[in-house]
Amino acid sequence: MASGNGSNVENICRFFEHNDNIEILGVYTNNPRAGVLELIKAFDMEGIVFDRTSFTKGSLLREIKDLKPDLIVLAGFLWKIGVDWVKAFPNKMINIHPALLPKYGGKGMYGSHIHEAVKENNEKETGITIHYVNEEFDKGDFIFQTTVSLLPEENKFDIATKIQRLEQQYFPKVIAQILFNNENKI
Ligand code: GAR
Repeated sequence: MASGNGSNVENICRFFEHNDNIEILGVYTNNPRAGVLELIKAFDMEGIVFDRTSFTKGSLLREIKDLKPDLIVLAGFLWKIGVDWVKAFPNKMINIHPALLPKYGGKGMYGSHIHEAVKENNEKETGITIHYVNEEFDKGDFIFQTTVSLLPEENKFDIATKIQRLEQQYFPKVIAQILFNNENKI
């Protein structure tokens, strides 16, 4: 599930493209103008756009339950996940967050807002967190975290670039590790 540009979705699709043990059952977005809808065409996929009503009133949840996914991946998905979803998929929903949670998490903390705040606070490092999704924004158990150091002269765009590099490098590998219960260190 994604709301934006889709660089993570694209990277995940590419990583698993020739893996016969993985099937991407669908790419779902709440945003009809999301870049992700274009990007996935390269993988012969059509995105599924949904609205607030189907997301909150059960019809989308029923649709996804019927697919029986092993994992639901939030890759830049910006709506808060309801309790009904968390109950339906305990420990089967993961999210990537472009900061070192618990710092820079919660409502309003997404994408460039995070990098701006990191810059304003003169942080010497930032990073990514991949975590299970629970009822609270950005509060589920951590699965993976990694850091990158920042230089005083780097601006929010530099920070975004560094974060994207980490996401590209690690997110698909973490997904594979979860799905295949692979103990090998990432
Ligand atoms: C990613 O950096 C992801 O970590 C972040 O949104 C971006 C989506 O980029 N997610 C959040 O901020 C969630 N709170 P993408 O659409 O290019 O994958």
